Amino acid sequence: MQEKSKKVYLETYGCQMNVADSEIILGLLDEKGYDLTDDMSMADVILVNTCSVREHAEQRVYSRLGEFKSAKRKKPEVIVGLLGCMAERLRESLTDKNAQGVGHIVDVIVGPDEYRKLPDLLSQSWHGEKGIAVQLSRVETYDDVTPLRTNGISAWISVMRGCDKFCSFCVVPFTRGRERNRSFSNIVSEAESLSKRGFKEVTLLGQNVNSYRDGKYDFADLINAVSLVDPSMRIRFMTSHPQDMSDKLIDTIAGGNNICKYIHLPVQSGSDKILQLMDRNYDRAHYLNLIRKIRSAIPKVTLSTDIITGFPTETDEDHKQTLEMMKDVRYDGAFTFKYSPREHTPSFRMGDDVSDEIKTHRINEIIELQNSIANEKNIRHIGESMTILIEGESKKSSDEMHGRTDGNKMVIVPCGDCKTGDYVDVTITRANSATLFGTVQQQSRVEVV
Ligand code: SAH
Ligand code: SF4
Ligand code: F3S
Repeated sequence: MQEKSKKVYLETYGCQMNVADSEIILGLLDEKGYDLTDDMSMADVILVNTCSVREHAEQRVYSRLGEFKSAKRKKPEVIVGLLGCMAERLRESLTDKNAQGVGHIVDVIVGPDEYRKLPDLLSQSWHGEKGIAVQLSRVETYDDVTPLRTNGISAWISVMRGCDKFCSFCVVPFTRGRERNRSFSNIVSEAESLSKRGFKEVTLLGQNVNSYRDGKYDFADLINAVSLVDPSMRIRFMTSHPQDMSDKLIDTIAGGNNICKYIHLPVQSGSDKILQLMDRNYDRAHYLNLIRKIRSAIPKVTLSTDIITGFPTETDEDHKQTLEMMKDVRYDGAFTFKYSPREHTPSFRMGDDVSDEIKTHRINEIIELQNSIANEKNIRHIGESMTILIEGESKKSSDEMHGRTDGNKMVIVPCGDCKTGDYVDVTITRANSATLFGTVQQQSRVEVV
């Protein structure tokens, strides 16, 4: 069979960096003549780009591998490749036939810095050779690879890779390696080419996007330069670390018309004791001061966070301080996780002394509080006029479309004449904790205001 006719099916788990990496992987395979398929049963190659951040993320992949096993039973020549953070974390142990029973399913294992080797490893595997490539790199940024983007409206641009923060709970520095940055001028050129191709939104990505640096340029310079490429293209960014949120960056976000007024600023915990054990390098007071600065420079900003509950030694009092933090900040959204011990991370040695029952109780309190805050905040938008970018048909009904505000709030509107990629002005008529509902005022705006 010619490689030209080989079909690849790819599933992606984990964070946006992984989504962006999958586009890089497909870009590399596209160059070699592979075609993409959405139908696993048609595939010659099944790839899964994986996440290790919590135990649950890995369990999901193991159960998917069980399904790939039946695909392979029906079509024994199918190659299965396990890519990404789990490949990096578990390495050779994945080829062990006893390793959760996946050794005989997986043919190719490739970590996040070795995707350039994937086409060769796949070619070898057609001849029955299993392949593994899991070296981390200090320099690989895939700066010259053109990602294969299948969504023509919103694009991810990874501007940096890796993480040097070593928060004590986190596996990312081990799966992604040291921090390194893409070239400033290449990122700006990529944004220019996306604008020419009609993209309406770009999101600059990094595990610590605000620690970006290339020579004399920092992240504030980068976001400013990208925002000047096209005033009708919205610019987003994630994830920011509270330690690297400079005044210059806050002012740049405040001043850029098309820089979205939305900041995801994970706090993780509201307790100083826990923040210290997490090695987050800030305390409650620093974080709250940052929020005050952000709100005074950008009054309409929307804020979201990540929270881990049940970190080792977390007491009811620590948990209360997290709830207090949430009440003080009043986040628009929160991603909440039960602490999951990860081997080799510093906090692994602290054990996992908060029971699952207590974690469940605490996470439920956090979610309930967050929902009520988000609900109150969203209800206040009723009657307001907002500009949204239409992203597609609503999942619940084909008579409705969904789009996002500058502040990253999801809005559902009746279909009317608007189509994916339009900016439309809407009036908010109804809201709940997760979604706003509105009616369209005026269609097909050209510029973001
Ligand atoms: N770089 C980003 C987030 C990366 S991982 C940052 O620093 O904010 C995304 C989120 O997963 C983290 O913010 C954290 O809340 C959560 N997370 C990471 N490791 C975890 C663990 N061991 N257990 C539970 N949640 C974890
Ligand atoms: Fe993990 Fe901390 Fe790095 Fe985020 S900043 S990726 S939580 S080590
Ligand atoms: Fe998961 Fe790797 Fe992202 S561990 S969160 S996919 S960097």
